[in-house]
Amino acid sequence: MTGQLRHMLRDDDLNHDEQRQVLELGMRFRENRFYRQPFAGPQAVAVLFDKPSTRTRSSFSIGVAELGGYPLVIDKSGSQLGRGEPVADTARVLTRMAYGIVWRTFGQDRVEEMAKYATCPVVNALTDEFHPCQVLADLLTIAQFRGGVDALPGKTIAYLGDAANNMANSYLLGGATAGMNVRVAGPYGYLPDPAIVADAERIAAENGGSVLVTTDPREAVADADCVFTDTWVSMGEEAEYAIRSKPFWDYQVNDALMKLAKPDALFQHCLPAYRGKEVTESVIDGPQSVVWDEAENRLHAQKALLTWLVGKQRGDESLLA
Ligand code: CP
Ligand code: NVA
Repeated sequence: MTGQLRHMLRDDDLNHDEQRQVLELGMRFRENRFYRQPFAGPQAVAVLFDKPSTRTRSSFSIGVAELGGYPLVIDKSGSQLGRGEPVADTARVLTRMAYGIVWRTFGQDRVEEMAKYATCPVVNALTDEFHPCQVLADLLTIAQFRGGVDALPGKTIAYLGDAANNMANSYLLGGATAGMNVRVAGPYGYLPDPAIVADAERIAAENGGSVLVTTDPREAVADADCVFTDTWVSMGEEAEYAIRSKPFWDYQVNDALMKLAKPDALFQHCLPAYRGKEVTESVIDGPQSVVWDEAENRLHAQKALLTWLVGKQRGDESLLA
């Protein structure tokens, strides 16, 4: 196998078989935290944040260390990138030293620019458009509770709330890649970009899944295997708090809505959660909620992803399984 530089900028950067490989690797890391150590040395992985984070910061910092590497965590306030140094220059510097670059930032064009100039894998740790690492963890959580990665194709997942945000987009692409039936519901004005829906429909058709975008929350959750939601006010949208507190109430995940899903349906939320807004306390703290496993799975899924990406780059098959 010859080396191939790969990045994870949006969920469909992995095809069905590749996503499966990463998730299977994630299951191995779930069983053994030290299953593979591709960054032994330690080799450094740069982890950059232009937005706040608790889960992504801890899972990448701890994850890179457990992979035998050194996580170099840089915040916007402490970097020249935050003072306007071009992304391309930052990429050309970091790639001379680090073996991977993980970045949480605003526009998707920024991670694309980083990947254009980097000669090591670049991973999107959340942009305004996508949060692919979260969806890998969420799929791993379904695999954990439903008998493994083979159980994913054909399952129905429903996402409710701000259907134009990064999580909605990532469920569309990531769920379609897994061959799932992906349903996304939100109010008019907060529905996904038709171009992303078209990509998801094409990918779903290739993998035996389907896509439904609706304004009806009941249609979305009917008989679903897993129900997801997310904050109604994403990072960077704080000024819209007052306008955004109105349109989403019909999409709140509460007991009545959960009753329409399968009786054993799982509830997931990427967190941080706002109890009493997008989800009631009874659901997020109730028996169907798996949000703490979901948060832990960020660690396993991302270690799997980094291992797979460097395995591809090095042409080392032993890191892909
Ligand atoms: N879910 C998630 O990405 O959480 P953080 O913002 O805390 O990283
Ligand atoms: N949609 C949320 C996800 C947080 C993990 C945001 O972008 O703030």
